[in-house]
Amino acid sequence: MQGEHEDRRPIKVLIFAASLRKGSLNDRLATLAAQVAEQMGGVVDRGTMADYDCPSYDQDIEQEDGLPAGARKLRDCLVAADAFIIASPEYNASLPGVLKNAIDWASRYRPQPFNGRQGLLLSASPSMAGGNRGLWSLRIPLEHLGARVYPDMYSLAQAHEAFDERGRIADPTLQTRFESTIECFLDLVEAAKHYRPLKKQWVEYLGEHPNPATERVEHTTVEAA
Ligand code: FNR
Repeated sequence: MQGEHEDRRPIKVLIFAASLRKGSLNDRLATLAAQVAEQMGGVVDRGTMADYDCPSYDQDIEQEDGLPAGARKLRDCLVAADAFIIASPEYNASLPGVLKNAIDWASRYRPQPFNGRQGLLLSASPSMAGGNRGLWSLRIPLEHLGARVYPDMYSLAQAHEAFDERGRIADPTLQTRFESTIECFLDLVEAAKHYRPLKKQWVEYLGEHPNPATERVEHTTVEAA
């Protein structure tokens, strides 16, 4: 794999797991994603959910104190990257509250940092479905905010026994599928970054009556990182 991607034009990818616990399966999957992305020529910023954790969203706090440090960090990391990869646990068939809370806070920035960024979603769970239902829930706020969420999502089933001692996925077919998912995603990110006419404006509610007091319209501003 190494050496095949030397001709890739530079792309920066923020990678983090949406779990706060030590020994997180999703953090292990994020670590593997970072290794694969680097081998494929990507420049990785390896974040942690603890970096982006925020107090529960409260509009009074926002108005009195501004945005918390975790939201600022998430915004800064997103802005510095061309793309993001999130490995997220599934909690009760949905995304973890800690992640939704951080997304809500970060969405208050202008320009709004998810707009126009390419995203890939991963999950790991001891269950047979690998936490895949949580990723469908996670797509909703991200796509609402204008992120370009990659169609394929990789959910590692029975993740508590899926890794080998080197941190790779022990089943070679699943490891190969993981690598090719990341490779295809990086190809798309590279094309999107260097093919600017693809980028569009983001209108929060396309069919709503235009009203400058309430509408949110932004043009995608993913700059070369
Ligand atoms: C879970 N877990 C879980 N797993 C799953 O596949 N579907 C689910 O709906 C849930 N729901 C759920 C709710 C809550 C509150 C907890 C704490 C856990 C199990 C979860 O996938 C497992 O604990 C993972 O190991 C969590 O991810 P990390 O922390 O290992 O990355």
